[in-house]
Amino acid sequence: MKLLSATVLFLSSPRVFAIYEVTYHSSPLAVQPLTILYRDPSYDPDNTTLFLVSPTGTAIEQPAPAIYDSTGQLVCQWADPAIGNTNDLNLQMYAGKPVLTMWVGPGNPGAGPEVGDGTAQIYDETYSLVANISAVNGAGGTDFHEFQIVQPENTSAIVTAYNEVPADLSSIGGPVQGWYLNTMFQEIDIASGRVLFNWSAFDHIPLSETQITLNDSTNGTTPETPFDAVHINSVDKDTDGHYLVSGRHTWTLYKVNATDGNIIWRLGGNNSSFANTTADASFFWQHHARWQGADTVTVFDDGAAGFGQVPPTIVVTEPYASGKMLQLNEQNKTFELVKRFVPSHGLSPAPSLAEGSVEVYGSQVVVGYGSNPWITVHDLATQKVLFSAVIGPNNSSLWHGAISNYRAFQTTKSVFVGQPKTSPSIAVESGTVYVSWNGATQVDRYALSTGKTASKADHLLRTVTRTGFETEMSATGSLGYMQVVALAADGKVLGWTAIVSTA
Ligand SMILES: *[C@@H]1O[C@H](CO)[C@@H](O)[C@H](O)[C@H]1NC(C)=O
Ligand SMILES: *[C@@H]1O[C@H](CO)[C@@H](O)[C@H](O)[C@H]1NC(C)=O
Ligand SMILES: *[C@@H]1O[C@H](CO)[C@@H](O)[C@H](O)[C@H]1NC(C)=O
Ligand SMILES: *[C@@H]1O[C@H](CO)[C@@H](O)[C@H](O)[C@H]1NC(C)=O
Ligand SMILES: *[C@@H]1O[C@H](CO)[C@@H](O)[C@H](O)[C@H]1NC(C)=O
Ligand SMILES: *[C@@H]1O[C@H](CO)[C@@H](O)[C@H](O)[C@H]1NC(C)=O
Ligand SMILES: *[C@@H]1O[C@H](CO)[C@@H](O)[C@H](O)[C@H]1NC(C)=O
Ligand SMILES: *[C@@H]1O[C@H](CO)[C@@H](O)[C@H](O)[C@H]1NC(C)=O
Ligand SMILES: *[C@@H]1O[C@H](CO)[C@@H](O)[C@H](O)[C@H]1NC(C)=O
Ligand SMILES: *[C@@H]1O[C@H](CO)[C@@H](O)[C@H](O)[C@H]1NC(C)=O
Ligand SMILES: *[C@@H]1O[C@H](CO)[C@@H](O)[C@H](O)[C@H]1NC(C)=O
Ligand SMILES: *[C@@H]1O[C@H](CO)[C@@H](O)[C@H](O)[C@H]1NC(C)=O
Repeated sequence: MKLLSATVLFLSSPRVFAIYEVTYHSSPLAVQPLTILYRDPSYDPDNTTLFLVSPTGTAIEQPAPAIYDSTGQLVCQWADPAIGNTNDLNLQMYAGKPVLTMWVGPGNPGAGPEVGDGTAQIYDETYSLVANISAVNGAGGTDFHEFQIVQPENTSAIVTAYNEVPADLSSIGGPVQGWYLNTMFQEIDIASGRVLFNWSAFDHIPLSETQITLNDSTNGTTPETPFDAVHINSVDKDTDGHYLVSGRHTWTLYKVNATDGNIIWRLGGNNSSFANTTADASFFWQHHARWQGADTVTVFDDGAAGFGQVPPTIVVTEPYASGKMLQLNEQNKTFELVKRFVPSHGLSPAPSLAEGSVEVYGSQVVVGYGSNPWITVHDLATQKVLFSAVIGPNNSSLWHGAISNYRAFQTTKSVFVGQPKTSPSIAVESGTVYVSWNGATQVDRYALSTGKTASKADHLLRTVTRTGFETEMSATGSLGYMQVVALAADGKVLGWTAIVSTA
């Protein structure tokens, strides 16, 4: 167990937010709604887009990854206390197939002090576990800040890990015999678990680069309160085979040589190898740095940071958070802002205190605002907002603590085909039949049949188009027992519920 900071938000209020949760008749799930604030008419006309999110915080009963569609309906939630808490749901490719990836472990990534003591897991489209990735020699196994399957081979993954190490912190006003939270990343072969590359901030980044002070993020006096000087929160690999490492607490992206581990250059922060050409090219407390071609990087610029003490220390460095696309000029050693993705249409730009993401998705860009549990989708060319939504109700008192979301990703029902091994669920209450199927993405309609015994319900009563996570239909005409069959658009039978009594 380690004390951490950064993604730790503020657990000061009791769990009083259950009133906002959406509940169902046919499922025990209780989830926050996805509230749509704006949908451009051109955006997702067939409603096939899916959002992958991992909400956490005091308003979240069980931190669990979830999939919503672009109408705001839940498609899937893993509310399984047996697997612990989860973070960073994403769709990646493994063994030639689309897979869901996430971090799983003890501790609540958004609302508690423990982080990182888990594993990175890969699930197939039937929601079955296919692989675990465990960091080696990290104090608490795999940390939840990064889990990227390395393209194009897709046979290895990059994960983060932490170790507390003794360190002389006197140069920044701390103890000579102090403790440092060493933030590491490892590239691991998924099949064998072998570490292919191992790198740590302590070995390469001087203390002088930190932008935090002692006590912002623990004071370094004991192994339980190690000083988190760098805080690696994303790692990407470029086509040269080198790494792009984001240090939240140094405001810097590091290009790390995959052969010798040396830092090739720094972008941003205290000792940047590239000069900003304009003030708005700079970024602060950033997350989710990704290459977009040879000299272009996207990054979520939080513009602010919140640290875990109660009351929290909040450092606001810029007026608002945004997704940024930056162009590096290797010849002149400058960098410039080429695109900026800013919320609009129901959301006012504001700083984010933690977390966040920017995903280039075809001709669109998906921005997740972390401690502001917002999602915006932009046109890549014009930067215009096409879609704007909030996880939870449209209520700002729930932001920065009650609901936050580490990263937001987009996919579609044609890429990810969720085929759970469970059966659809049915409930009959007061003359109404309710049916749902957690995780199924292909259901177009449900056929309701009835019968006189618990062993057979083969008299078709009606077929009803699926309307969302839960579809309801009249129980009129029941002969005593009922069953629902889930059908795809082409009429293929996908699954069926148990036969239940309507008495
Ligand atoms: C969301 O809340 C804000 C602030 O209360 C309000 O201005 C806005 O109209 C709301 N938007 C929607 C779509 O409810
Ligand atoms: C998509 O969803 C919107 C909003 O719920 C709805 O108005 C529209 O009819 C849907 N389109 C299709 C093709 O189902
Ligand atoms: C690796 O994954 C990427 C997308 O995540 C995909 O484009 C590529 O085809 C995959 N490569 C292999 C060998 O599966
Ligand atoms: C993954 O790890 C869990 C917990 O340690 C274990 O139960 C499971 O068998 C592992 N699965 C695979 C596919 O490695
Ligand atoms: C990775 O590096 C860290 C820091 O130097 C070290 O403590 C750890 O043992 C290394 N892990 C492996 C698997 O080499
Ligand atoms: C930045 O670097 C200079 C020396 O290069 C140092 O004096 C300063 O304390 C560093 N840190 C910050 C946060 O500016
Ligand atoms: C950290 O906080 C403690 C308690 O408030 C205080 O005594 C100490 O001086 C602070 N240390 C630093 C380096 O700010
Ligand atoms: C450091 O933090 C710990 C835990 O909050 C506290 O008990 C201790 O007094 C602090 N020490 C200093 C020198 O600030
Ligand atoms: C990476 O490290 C290797 C071994 O030290 C060195 O030969 C190579 O030039 C370095 N690459 C870059 C881009 O610095
Ligand atoms: C700044 O980075 C350069 C390498 O780019 C390094 O040689 C130098 O020591 C660094 N300066 C400070 C003050 O850390
Ligand atoms: C670079 O960014 C810093 C911090 O935002 C700003 O103070 C400075 O003016 C910028 N430089 C240029 C050339 O705009
Ligand atoms: C570098 O700067 C020089 C002088 O301003 C300019 O002529 C040249 O085009 C620049 N190179 C690039 C690649 O931008």
